Amino acid sequence: MTQSFSFNAENLKKAEGFLKKYPKGREQSALLSLLDLAQTQNGGWLCEGAMAYVADFLKIHPMRVLEVASFYSLFHLKPHGKYHIQVCTTPPCSLSGSDQLLWSCKKWLGIGVGETTADGKFSLIETQCLGACTKGPVVRINQDMYENQTQETLVEVLQTLAER
Ligand code: FES
Repeated sequence: MTQSFSFNAENLKKAEGFLKKYPKGREQSALLSLLDLAQTQNGGWLCEGAMAYVADFLKIHPMRVLEVASFYSLFHLKPHGKYHIQVCTTPPCSLSGSDQLLWSCKKWLGIGVGETTADGKFSLIETQCLGACTKGPVVRINQDMYENQTQETLVEVLQTLAER
């Protein structure tokens, strides 16, 4: 069953503001901004209802929304932990040690890739290039980037987040 979704009053105002940034007939260019808004309102992920709502809002085919939402790693198509850990394992980061970072995460959290801790606090995935290749290995946790990480510095980050 599709979860229903609509922007709350505050986000509706923001969404209408995004549309005004583009020339008439080009409003669909606001798609990324609207998906980001919908994802934030929906607790960090895009349910089918949210994507359908955005498609309807922009008067575009729902498949176009799904294509975009499933392409960018900033968008999540299923629920995840409070802290969503994305370890870049593309070759530049892999050569800098991201495999070891991934191993440390799995060991420290006690979960595998694609899983969420029992308390719902952390989830872990591998991701493709995060656009900071010269500062690898790179990990993104929610909206924050952690560059030049070592196993030790990343575990410190996880410990800090666990205490929040
Ligand atoms: S390869 Fe990891 S950020 Fe580009």
